[in-house]
Amino acid sequence: MSKPYDPAHEGAQMTFDGRMSYGDYLQLDRILGAQTPLSTAHDEMLFIIQHQTSELWMRLALYEIHAARAALRDGQLSPAFKMLARVARIFEQLNAAWDVLRTMTPSEYTRFRDDLGQSSGFQSYQYREIEFLLGNRNPAMLRPHAHRPEILVRLEEELTRPSLYDEALRLLARNGIAVPAEVLERDVRQTHQAHDGVTEAWRQVYQAPEQHWPLYELAEKLVDFEDYFRRWRFNHVTTVERVIGFKRGTGGTGGVPYLRNMLAVELFPELWRVRTVL
Ligand code: HEM
Repeated sequence: MSKPYDPAHEGAQMTFDGRMSYGDYLQLDRILGAQTPLSTAHDEMLFIIQHQTSELWMRLALYEIHAARAALRDGQLSPAFKMLARVARIFEQLNAAWDVLRTMTPSEYTRFRDDLGQSSGFQSYQYREIEFLLGNRNPAMLRPHAHRPEILVRLEEELTRPSLYDEALRLLARNGIAVPAEVLERDVRQTHQAHDGVTEAWRQVYQAPEQHWPLYELAEKLVDFEDYFRRWRFNHVTTVERVIGFKRGTGGTGGVPYLRNMLAVELFPELWRVRTVL
């Protein structure tokens, strides 16, 4: 009989006394020790892991969008494109993840929903930071974080900086495309409002892609990302309706009607409008 295969023969490291292992590097004990269901319901583990993995992907999305914004500010378009492409793929990943959660039926969710208390994704501070960073800025959304000063400060600071879209419009202006001064000098704490002058700016780019190729590529990267983000919102509201119907959310909103309102959010409005005028 042949001996069982021993990976050590081809050099696999098999002893880790005093040496950094895979689990050490990734701090797996911390991550894998952070799933603590509050009920005995079988599906609560799925619910927890689904949210935790989403938050991990959001962590990376934030890291990339912050860097992409800095790159746009510095006129470094190629790295910004790469980061934005990655963020779109992250959202594609998050979109695919809904299929796993949808295996949970309303009967199964009801078994542990009360244990969640008032907690809800509505209070996800990373999600709120993504929205703020992209330009969907509602200072009222700071309030659920008032009990966590370090998070509140982080979100408040984000509201003082130009959004990713503001930086894209400033870049347009620096490259000789006329962008209305009132848009460039707007109060960045507010959500940008669609402006015909900005649609006209993007129209110039789209009408002569060869002449404005980097700006054209930027526009399409932003649209691509918003496209995936919209799908995330749609998948979320559909999953929510499938699981809780029209019950109120644990976070206290009307639930599905609230989330349907959010489907109307436009992050880069003129990039969608320009399609109509081409
Ligand atoms: C069965 C699964 C889920 C249900 C029933 C559900 C339900 C809801 C409801 C009703 C809201 C509105 C706020 C409220 O009143 O609670 C909400 C918001 C939210 N949920 Fe979920 N959710 C689910 C899964 C998820 C997952 C997996 C994520 C991923 C992190 C997530 C992230 C969010 C976020 C970020 C918001 C805030 C959206 C906004 O303010 O625009 N949810 N959810």
